[in-house]
Amino acid sequence: MLERRKIRMYKIAVLAGDGIGPEVMAEAVKVLHAVEKKFDLEFDFLEGLAGGAAIDAYGMPLPESTVKLCEECDAVLFGAVGGPRWDGVEGRLRPERAILGLRKHFGLYANLRPAVLFPALIDASPIKREIVEKLDLLIVRELTGGLYFGTPKGRDESGGKVRAFDTMTYTEHEIERVAHIAFKAAQKRKKRVTSVDKANVLETSRLWREVVEKVARAYADVELCHMYVDNCSMQMVTSPVQFDVILTENTFGDILSDESAVLTGSIGMLPSASLGDKKHYLYEPTHGSAPDIAGTGRANPIACILSASLMLEYSFQAADASTAIKQAVTKALDEGYRTSDIYTGTGKLVSTNEMGDIIARLTERCP
Ligand code: IPM
Ligand code: MG
Repeated sequence: MLERRKIRMYKIAVLAGDGIGPEVMAEAVKVLHAVEKKFDLEFDFLEGLAGGAAIDAYGMPLPESTVKLCEECDAVLFGAVGGPRWDGVEGRLRPERAILGLRKHFGLYANLRPAVLFPALIDASPIKREIVEKLDLLIVRELTGGLYFGTPKGRDESGGKVRAFDTMTYTEHEIERVAHIAFKAAQKRKKRVTSVDKANVLETSRLWREVVEKVARAYADVELCHMYVDNCSMQMVTSPVQFDVILTENTFGDILSDESAVLTGSIGMLPSASLGDKKHYLYEPTHGSAPDIAGTGRANPIACILSASLMLEYSFQAADASTAIKQAVTKALDEGYRTSDIYTGTGKLVSTNEMGDIIARLTERCP
């Protein structure tokens, strides 16, 4: 009797957003199609509007219909939002509220941002070869607390003087749960966690340090050290290979992850996974919507493609398919294909669409 192979089916919410979002998303979807047959997977892609695109259609960045669509899916793949067209809209209606709203709604408190230097790109990094060689770090950024969501938040006026304020708050629980994610990730890597804070000044950071110390006791095999955020941002460019897992709060993680991204040659290379307690995880490239290059074919789709690879790993437990994509990206770079952001004068300059085709083809051919 013929053995019937079991096909696993998943629904993916595709929120391409604005600027280069739709362009890089098209390539990630293409690459996901390339793994379907080979790894007995089947994807249903359901498109929804978010960010500026949703503001134009519905007058709000995250319509209820988009949230509902995400709830019905097994995972969310997100492009990028924002652009000068919507810069004038009031704070709560800005395109960025789409991503912030999704993070909050689905309780996505842990944001994983791996920064890996592909050997073929060493000359695209602005940092000297001997400093950045072998870079492979993971930032675990707290994603639903801190300054981004703390209240009160706002603006007032008294005696003709305007004041604006944001509040940085963290509870023990918020710190604890993201710390566990970082230590667990470290156990699968080089077993080192650097917890980054500003405990010499901030009360939230002092609590952060205390709680991280406590959580660390459950992970005797992982080495923990603490570092102030200003020092960390310097160490990131002077000796980045010392880092394995960096655990930090929301705002510090936002800043440090852009810095880590550019070490790898371009922010167009950095994927991310946002995890929480429910099954709805979200995957997005770390780069923004880059309106200046939208529609020119110059966007690098690799961050979005690698985000799809993270989705296969964390949401669909398809490690083999995830690895096939990562290997295809490595191969495309080794063969010299470059989008303009990582082009240094040698190799073959290709468009967004061509890079997607090449990676999809190489994914299909992966052993
Ligand atoms: C990121 C982005 C977002 C953030 C913006 C778009 C709200 O910069 O994911 O790093 O600040 O978290
Ligand atoms: Mg950012």
